[in-house]
Amino acid sequence: MPLENQLLKWYLINKRDLPWRKNKDPYSVWISEIILQQTKVSQGVQYYKNFMERFPNIEKLSTSKESHVLKAWQGLGYYNRAINLHKTSKEIINNLDGEFPSTYTDLIKLKGIGDYTASAISSICFDEFNPVVDGNVMRFLTRYNGIKEPIDSKKTQNKVKEIGKRLIDKTNSPGDFNQAMMEFGALICTPFPACDSCILSSKCTAYKKNIVEKLPFKLKKKKAKERFFNYIVLVDPKNKTLIEKRIKKDIWFKLNQFPLVETNFKVNNIRKVSSFNKFINSQKILIKNNTFSKYNIKHVLSHQVLHISFYIFKTEKDIPLGIDLSGLSNYNFPVPINNFIIKKLF
Ligand code: ADE
Repeated sequence: MPLENQLLKWYLINKRDLPWRKNKDPYSVWISEIILQQTKVSQGVQYYKNFMERFPNIEKLSTSKESHVLKAWQGLGYYNRAINLHKTSKEIINNLDGEFPSTYTDLIKLKGIGDYTASAISSICFDEFNPVVDGNVMRFLTRYNGIKEPIDSKKTQNKVKEIGKRLIDKTNSPGDFNQAMMEFGALICTPFPACDSCILSSKCTAYKKNIVEKLPFKLKKKKAKERFFNYIVLVDPKNKTLIEKRIKKDIWFKLNQFPLVETNFKVNNIRKVSSFNKFINSQKILIKNNTFSKYNIKHVLSHQVLHISFYIFKTEKDIPLGIDLSGLSNYNFPVPINNFIIKKLF
């Protein structure tokens, strides 16, 4: 049996019962595919359910506040993806008569929809023959075809996509075929696969050459960037504190944080850091001596390791524009800050 038929047959028997597979509604598929770029299916399901409960359709999403969308995204990371979901929902409702684009060509024009998402939506919902190549598909196809070239080169990515295109064109069910490849990579052709029980091993080049564990091959192992975040948590006599919105687009864009002093070294004594003193002087709030406590945590993101310290200082005077500590839960914070607030501030 040809590979594409074997995969489809396997998928129809073994596919997981996932909430976005109940129908071919493009809104549901779009939301699920963006969430699944952030996290594994096992974790993504709960985020998907919560998101759909809050924003059950595109109209509702388009008329919601951005901060509410960010709240539903909390913990998933890459918050720009949530901001783009929101922007694109407005674009579809306001400028496209509420009609979800149904072709790859029109989908890819939208903010936050790239080749992967446009291929997924156009194949799953509108039966277009556009192959998807996510990490799971890349792993499966490089092994099956014995492709040793680095997968972080555009040339290899195009080569693998071409293989996907040739396969999908031979099927009559492009959406199922794409999901079959993703599912096979996620469940069977995993980073540490059980090849002995795999239905495709007798035709798999990497298996026959005994190089399964070596593929896919990556040229650059990117070293995570280390960053040092020092958060200044001021608490005034009325139990008010100061927060700010992140405007830097690097991480956590538009989420809130305590005033941040970022350094490029691990801080031993924050009082000796000039940007800390500059900040305190600019606020005109004396900090009480001997009222300081510090909590350290390490937070690992996909490309960055954050060494985060929270410094709690009591102030002599009221903080102008301070907000109540008890009202912090009304604001969107990144997960490590939220955890600090819950565990250490109360
Ligand atoms: N990973 C991302 N999207 C997926 C889908 N539709 N099916 C299986 N795995 C996926």
